[in-house]
Amino acid sequence: METVCVVGLGYIGLPTAIVFALNGKHVVGVDTNPEVVELLHQGKIHIEEPGLQDACAKVLQEGRLVVSERPVPADAFVITVPTPLNHETNEADLSYVERATESLLPVLKKGDLVVLESTVPPGTVEEVMIPILQKSGLDPYEDLWVVHSPERVIPGNILYELEHNSRIVGGMNRESALKGKELYSSFVKGDILITDAKTAELTKLVENTFRDVNIALANELAIICSELGVNVWEVRRLANYHPRVNLLSPGPGVGGHCIPIDPWFVIGASPIFTRLIRTARTVNEEMPKRVCQFVETLMSKPGEGNIAVLGVAYKADVDDVRESPALRIIDILVKQGYTVKAYDPHVKGTYKGKVNTLEDALTDMDLAIVTTDHAEFRCLTPEYVKRLARNPVVMDTRNMLDSRDFGNAGVLVYTLGNGKQLGKSQLSYAEAASASDGAWQV
Ligand SMILES: NC(=O)c1ccc[n+]([C@@H]2O[C@H](COP(=O)([O-])OP(=O)(O)OC[C@H]3O[C@@H](n4cnc5c(N)ncnc54)[C@H](O)[C@@H]3O)[C@@H](O)[C@H]2O)c1
Repeated sequence: METVCVVGLGYIGLPTAIVFALNGKHVVGVDTNPEVVELLHQGKIHIEEPGLQDACAKVLQEGRLVVSERPVPADAFVITVPTPLNHETNEADLSYVERATESLLPVLKKGDLVVLESTVPPGTVEEVMIPILQKSGLDPYEDLWVVHSPERVIPGNILYELEHNSRIVGGMNRESALKGKELYSSFVKGDILITDAKTAELTKLVENTFRDVNIALANELAIICSELGVNVWEVRRLANYHPRVNLLSPGPGVGGHCIPIDPWFVIGASPIFTRLIRTARTVNEEMPKRVCQFVETLMSKPGEGNIAVLGVAYKADVDDVRESPALRIIDILVKQGYTVKAYDPHVKGTYKGKVNTLEDALTDMDLAIVTTDHAEFRCLTPEYVKRLARNPVVMDTRNMLDSRDFGNAGVLVYTLGNGKQLGKSQLSYAEAASASDGAWQV
């Protein structure tokens, strides 16, 4: 398998195409978005990912990666198109997978390998892709090798994880799985585990569902702690001394293209037996609203005042805003009547309340909410906040600021899930700050 055609050059497809090219394949990267193709023709990438720009420039320059708006004949086709959630029905929108599979029909030939990397509900390869592939006149079970190989890399460390993570290759039959394994052996240093396509589809979904359910537990605990007057971060720290406990961090909600979406694909596949998964989704989806409820208690008049939202991306140090809880928080606050100024040093696109500098966001604010723990916000100092703010109060949903230092300098920082800070109106700055210290540490 010398030539690989990667269909869909986004967060997953572009690094995948580049890594294939770096490891000796001749790669054609395909994207239907002319802007993506045009930028790549200029040697530029359209996403933010460490190391990707240099690696891309190298393979483009060497001619190992070429870019096109439609598939060309190849030995292997790797489909990495979006599979968003239809928010009205909570079902997978498989139209991109359908169109990408259809786009292969004019160029498919006997002996080709077709890989779906996109995250999909169980049964998608068999029930959605196979009938489309049959339209080529080839028998997908006899003439082609068809597999699902889900991607599990983390944005921010994609190039490393592509090579070093273990990979699952689920085939429509064993021969297909072995063919898929052969393709990925060109760069994967982790284990390559073969199985059937439906098992691979469900395994990927379960990985993210595991994360979602565990984040929901942390979020629920944060709310319980607020009610009980206990600091969730202290509970978490202590509980995690248990050798078999690993409580995750609470936060303002769950974002990104995977964790908030993939559980719905499991729920859709088995609506009756997914009570726990559905409840976890609800807990996490409610978090932006809960953050806003807490914010309301910190403002002197409901619906009045300036709020700075720090961070719009769904997680630290990335530019991805898909399903970001910060966007929901901004929406709710604007609807409630607040003037919102939102700043994110990574996100280039537009969003409600966007301002271009941290200074602009903090100027005349009555409250700032830290919604994303970008490294840039670690440099925030109480002096800086005090100089710009009308009212130096911060709600930290990520537990990234030292509320004691800020408190001592006259800036109140309320940390999500720290119930010890309740009763704030009676507390002085120093008292509220020291409440963040948690329990007595031995
Ligand atoms: N982003 C992640 O961190 C991540 C991690 C694991 C799995 N996934 C899964 O990988 C898949 C791709 O996600 P992504 O984040 O790379 O999406 P993306 O939106 O960043 O990129 C998808 C690209 O596909 C292109 N495209 C759409 N239809 C096309 C078609 N018919 N032919 C060619 N190009 C087409 C789009 O223009 C876009 O550039 C999804 O199923 C996602 O759930 C993503």
